[in-house]
Amino acid sequence: MGAGAIAATAHLPAYRRAGFDVQAVYDVDAAAAQALAERFGIGRVCDSLGELLSLPEVAVVDVAVPAEHNLPIASRAFEAGKHVLLQKPMAPDSARARAIVEAAERAGRLVAVNHQMRWAPSVRAAAELLRQGAFGEVIDYSMRFNRRTDWSAWPWLAELAYPELWYNSIHYLDAARFWFGTPATVYARLGAHQTSGIDRPTRAVIVAGHPGRVTGSVQVGHDSPKPPLSWTAEFTIEGTDLLVEGRVGDMIGHPGEVPDAIRLFARTGAGPQERELEGNWFPDAFAGPMRSLMAAIAGGGEPETSGADAVETLLLLEAVEASHRLGMAVEVEAR
Ligand SMILES: NC(=O)c1ccc[n+]([C@@H]2O[C@H](COP(=O)([O-])OP(=O)(O)OC[C@H]3O[C@@H](n4cnc5c(N)ncnc54)[C@H](O)[C@@H]3O)[C@@H](O)[C@H]2O)c1
Repeated sequence: MGAGAIAATAHLPAYRRAGFDVQAVYDVDAAAAQALAERFGIGRVCDSLGELLSLPEVAVVDVAVPAEHNLPIASRAFEAGKHVLLQKPMAPDSARARAIVEAAERAGRLVAVNHQMRWAPSVRAAAELLRQGAFGEVIDYSMRFNRRTDWSAWPWLAELAYPELWYNSIHYLDAARFWFGTPATVYARLGAHQTSGIDRPTRAVIVAGHPGRVTGSVQVGHDSPKPPLSWTAEFTIEGTDLLVEGRVGDMIGHPGEVPDAIRLFARTGAGPQERELEGNWFPDAFAGPMRSLMAAIAGGGEPETSGADAVETLLLLEAVEASHRLGMAVEVEAR
């Protein structure tokens, strides 16, 4: 449910490629729901959330609406016996995200969150190298994203104090958690830019101290004067044995123009070695959270981007906000 931009450009194209069976659509904007159904051949347009939740053929409700609506929608869906996939951010704050997890537990249903950057090809390839221990001991990582974003596409974001952090940098911080776990401490400064078109911070410099020795930095800007194909969207992870550089192609130019890439530089001097990567962040990665949720429903266990896990990403965002406001490093609250 939610027949807006992301459902049309990412969820449904990815689900079509993956062969997922989409039964029905609902949006408070009936015309948007109708248009989406026609475009993707969805058999049923519902007039209300109640109608959607009454359909026995619907096992999972995929919610792609602004986060403030997620708690009431998810609660009703669990009560109706449905599992739920929520768009990020899971909720406007960690308290409401926890309430969603508790509601799912009470109903014995599963909840997952669309943290699909974990399935962006370069991000996943780096995770696989980490899993294999290919880096030796990891020392540090950096993520650098600098592009131009037109915020006018999401007028409701202007209501938030830190829209960039909660709606974009959330991806990078969640990817860092995917690689190295939740940082124990963060120091952050969030900056505004005179040309951004939105009276809110559109820039972030965040230093994360993970348990053990790993330190990370995440630097984000949305005000680049460069031509789109010269934007920056890259990461470096360096260990005792290996340095890896990755590119998240879909954040450069328009989605699909630039492929993901990954290059390995071994400490022995071998390399660079390029790895073949399949697919893109947009839309292919969007199949990942849904597939993981469906696997958990079928086979037991938790989805990879479970609601409980996503609470930790929101606790991290809240620590970033606190650090920025206080002007000092802060500890990240544990789940
Ligand atoms: N994972 C990603 O990479 C990614 C990218 C873009 C957007 N998103 C998320 O997806 C969500 C939607 O973003 P969008 O760009 O599609 O926004 P959008 O404004 O284009 O669409 C939102 C849609 O939700 C509908 N809606 C709002 N409240 C509703 C309700 N209570 N019940 C039913 N429908 C309702 C609106 O009518 C609209 O059609 C946001 O939470 C955003 O963070 C995620």
